[in-house]
Amino acid sequence: MSVRPATTADLPLLGPLEDTGDRQFTDLFGDLGWPAATPGEERAGVPGFLLVATGDETPGAPVVGFAHVLDLGGAWHLEQLSVDPDHQGRGHGTALLAAVDTEVAARGGGTLTLMTYADVAWNGPFYARRGWVEVEPPDRLAPMLAAEEREGLARHGRRIAMERC
Ligand SMILES: CC(C)(COP(=O)(O)OP(=O)(O)OC[C@H]1O[C@@H](n2cnc3c(N)ncnc32)[C@H](O)[C@@H]1OP(=O)(O)O)[C@@H](O)C(=O)NCCC(=O)NCCS
Repeated sequence: MSVRPATTADLPLLGPLEDTGDRQFTDLFGDLGWPAATPGEERAGVPGFLLVATGDETPGAPVVGFAHVLDLGGAWHLEQLSVDPDHQGRGHGTALLAAVDTEVAARGGGTLTLMTYADVAWNGPFYARRGWVEVEPPDRLAPMLAAEEREGLARHGRRIAMERC
């Protein structure tokens, strides 16, 4: 298992990977009505960073997951964490989260937030077991809250903001 910064060659893989990861939600919620995943090239075009998880450190090892963190100017937001369902449960998500912490620290540190489903097993409880706590959404997350509203995410369950302690 290995985590590294995303390269340009990785970017086209990220949207399809995220769409595949959403399969879990389809099993739980039925028809999601969510828009297609954000393309990796679009993610790379905003301030922040992208990390990918691979099965091992061999050059060309397939990408099985990614984390996208937005730089909000002194604060950070984990915009997406996604692992291919065929590779879940092997620690890639945990490794990506640890690498996100390391990268945020290397870039000067600061508050790290995310938005997730409070009661979906691999969302709120997964993060809580890794030291994240629920918080009132800070004002800087207003654009993310507006996007969630547009996409109707709360239709499927309680959405919360969490912060890394
Ligand atoms: C969340 C996600 C990235 C975790 O990736 P992963 O590689 O499976 O992570 P790990 O192997 O490190 O850990 C898996 C954890 O999820 C839990 N989990 C996964 N699927 C589960 C399920 N169906 N029911 C209960 N728990 C589940 C495991 O119990 C484990 O937690 P634990 O180690 O504390 O017991 C992955 O499930 C995913 O991509 N989900 C779809 C996208 C998503 O929800 N992203 C987060 C958005 S905020």
